[in-house]
Amino acid sequence: MIITIVGGGSTFTPGIVKSVALRREELGLTEIRLFDIDKERQDKVGVLVKWILENDLKTDIKLTVTYDVEEAYKDASFVFAQMRVGKYAMREQDEKIPLRHGCVGQETCGCGGLAYGMRTIFPMIKVIDDAAKYAKPDHWILNYSNPASVVSEACRKLRPGARIINICDMPIAIIDVVAAAMGIKDKENIVYDYYGLNHFGWFTSIQYKGEEILPKLRDYIMEHEILLPDAYLKDKKALMSNNNTNTEQNRHTKGSWYYVWKGEYEIMKNFPETLPNTYLNYYLQCKEFVEHSDPNHTRANEVMETREKNLFDGIDRYLATGEIDESVFYAGSHGDWISDLAVALMNDTKARFLVITENRGAIPNLPYDAMVEVPAYIGKNGPEVIAQDNIPLFQQGMIMQQLNCEKLLVEGCIEGSYEKVLKAFTLNKTVPSMKVAKEILDDMIVANKDYWPELK
Ligand code: NAD
Ligand code: G6P
Ligand code: MN
Repeated sequence: MIITIVGGGSTFTPGIVKSVALRREELGLTEIRLFDIDKERQDKVGVLVKWILENDLKTDIKLTVTYDVEEAYKDASFVFAQMRVGKYAMREQDEKIPLRHGCVGQETCGCGGLAYGMRTIFPMIKVIDDAAKYAKPDHWILNYSNPASVVSEACRKLRPGARIINICDMPIAIIDVVAAAMGIKDKENIVYDYYGLNHFGWFTSIQYKGEEILPKLRDYIMEHEILLPDAYLKDKKALMSNNNTNTEQNRHTKGSWYYVWKGEYEIMKNFPETLPNTYLNYYLQCKEFVEHSDPNHTRANEVMETREKNLFDGIDRYLATGEIDESVFYAGSHGDWISDLAVALMNDTKARFLVITENRGAIPNLPYDAMVEVPAYIGKNGPEVIAQDNIPLFQQGMIMQQLNCEKLLVEGCIEGSYEKVLKAFTLNKTVPSMKVAKEILDDMIVANKDYWPELK
């Protein structure tokens, strides 16, 4: 049984490999293949992956590190996709260009996310086509590649029926933080209800062993004026430091992530009934997020200076000395989530997951063809979505604006239509006017000349 990781040179590859290798018996896993277009980067990550499989976990799982499409996909049962098209250099542009025009600079939200989407649509379609050609007929592609919302809409439109499930680790990262704040150790006993688009949703219920804990959580957030566990807050300076290496704290609480946990308080102070996804901060507090952003040093810089640097320095040290420091890579919820999803598909467990999938009436007052993020039971034939009721006007209004923005972007990208892409940028809630949308788009066309289709 073969799992192919596309974007094998990703900073998340070692963590995913560890999670999946720990589940090798449930999966019947015999081989892991890494596939990337950046040889130097993937070769280095491959060194660490080999160490994890052979020395750390002492498995006999075969490792293949390849740059050849056929060798990568041949007879694979699962394809885990996690490409960053344009790598961190382009993430930096996605974040910095909008900030220059006074708009939110974020890799998956606002104009930055739209730019990243335009780079990723066609490479993702290629993954689907390569898998269809070479992988097992009943393969599944589990996709983390961002921006997952735009990517999933493009896949729905261009390759309907493709065996792909788009996923995100943010809701479970939020549940990790909620569990830590509430003193819950057995987070597997937490069940939640949620609806929205990717990076654009709300928790309507969080139950622990059958008890609704959202009211208790709300009280906690109001009292602490932030959604972070006490233990994390002891030393605020360390918490906000980019180089915060306290391993008890998950990566989502480091550096500028601090502001979104603070923002959860700001949002719930006004709208207390639901727990928002942290990404809603970029839409509901656009002005404030621009104000505390540093246009010359964004999250892309933080990641390059920490997660990416620590990983590749750690690999170089291992190559020079033979000694490994496991803290150079992150293993945890991110890898567990995609690996557990593979286990559910493989073993037809009907376990409950949040997935990004076509609405098909699950939320009656959203379009039938919207790619929504909702709970589903996962069996061998894919997600069985759990139907929900109509959603409130506020959330529905926000979702419709974002959904139509993303749909226009995908249409514009496929048709090569400047006007449609400009409409998408103009419709985004983080952009104040058509003129600003056009200025940002024109700068982005120049920055993305090696990646975007031509817009006429
Ligand atoms: P990274 O830059 O470290 O790794 C991405 C890798 O993808 C690079 O090695 C790059 O060479 C490779 N790549 C780029 N284009 C490719 C292509 N066409 N084919 C094959 N490989 C290609 O980035 P990272 O920070 O580790 O993130 C990896 C991806 O995972 C990103 O898309 C990121 O947004 C996504 N991500 C998603 C979630 C989620 O919740 N959905 C969570 C974390 C990360
Ligand atoms: C969360 C989101 C991902 C996003 C990541 C960014 O995990 O769900 O979609 O890629 O955050 O984290 P980073 O540490 O790269 O800023
Ligand atoms: Mn995500």
